[in-house]
Amino acid sequence: MNILILGSGGREHALAWAVKQNPKTDRLIVAPGNAGIAMLAECAEIDILDGATVVTFCEENAVDFVIVGPEAPLAAGVADATRAAGLLTFGPSAAAARLEASKAFTKEICDACAAPTAAWARFTEAAPARAYIRAKGAPIVVKADGLAAGKGVIVATTEAEALAAIDDMFGGEFGAAGAEVVIEDFMAGEEASFFILTDGTNALPIGTAQDHKRVGDGDTGPNTGGMGAYSPAPVLTDALQQQAMDQIVLPTIAEMARRGTPYQGVLYAGLMIQNGKARLVEYNARFGDPECQVLMMRLGAQALDLMLATAEGRLDQVQVNWADDHALTVVMAAKGYPGAYAKGSVINGLDRMPEDSRHMVFHAGTVLRDGLVTANGGRVLNITARGATLEEAHHRAYAMIDLLDWPEGFCRSDIGWRALPK
Ligand code: GLY
Repeated sequence: MNILILGSGGREHALAWAVKQNPKTDRLIVAPGNAGIAMLAECAEIDILDGATVVTFCEENAVDFVIVGPEAPLAAGVADATRAAGLLTFGPSAAAARLEASKAFTKEICDACAAPTAAWARFTEAAPARAYIRAKGAPIVVKADGLAAGKGVIVATTEAEALAAIDDMFGGEFGAAGAEVVIEDFMAGEEASFFILTDGTNALPIGTAQDHKRVGDGDTGPNTGGMGAYSPAPVLTDALQQQAMDQIVLPTIAEMARRGTPYQGVLYAGLMIQNGKARLVEYNARFGDPECQVLMMRLGAQALDLMLATAEGRLDQVQVNWADDHALTVVMAAKGYPGAYAKGSVINGLDRMPEDSRHMVFHAGTVLRDGLVTANGGRVLNITARGATLEEAHHRAYAMIDLLDWPEGFCRSDIGWRALPK
């Protein structure tokens, strides 16, 4: 079959890598793709936020299956457009993707189905939001309601910080995303990600992972889109996964269906674990990035069969064939990220890297210039490895990094630290 993947990051490179290995794949196109993706798939420069453009492209290229990677085309209704045109599509409708696109919507759903999460309130004006913060005190969490490229969540340790976040959000720092603000109680504990495929009725867990959001070793410095991840995340024990399914995920799926907006695609539940109990931090309507890279490394070619079963509404007929293994990915970023960084430096040493079922370099922000792989973003490469143990995966990934020659890049040296032997 002919498959189109929408997106251009490490997540989409990992999806393409897994899909490409499945014998069902005849032609693989990624739009817009990047320099790494171009090594295994055709890349197409189209406007992936415009449903009509994507549908026309699919018709012209006899595409049989569309996989939507990032949240922006989902929120823009691209999956609605492709499904309306009769194209088999993996990814939720815009109405269902509100689970990511609106923090207040997710909280409403949690309240409606009694899913455990932090107490919350919503505001469209600064004065009552400020009064609420003063009454509650710190620590407290201030969130822009809408999509803010991962930057719209402020975990304020002081009241002053929370009040400043209110000023920023209502002052327009996050544009329309900050027109409404959600304020939540701070949840202590350890955060982990849980990934579930759902066709709107059936649900199939496909793995756990833990991201490293801070830029510096020891979880220090500013937040980023994610500096590395590993899977599985041992903090999410089988018992906790079952509790999350029973109390959070399945009630959410049922509530979305009850409202006439069934959710189809991957549901990424960000969970906070404390005192042996999981509570929902947030939902995302897509695979995590870089969590997808470690999930795909572990799932391999079957990822396509699972996504097809999701899109065709037959998740009750499939199962995950688990290898008892571990995967770890280290993000190489351009120096300066998540602040200002330069683009255009040449990355050498990639040809020395092993690339096989145990080692992969997934490209995130790269472009080919004069035949050279060149940095073109903040997060640039995802050095990913698989092993029988997490230590083995960790050792392999960092051994790959030793082969890289890119003085303009940096990475964290402690990815996996929570789960590695001390
Ligand atoms: N790694 C965090 C995210 O994808 O939202």
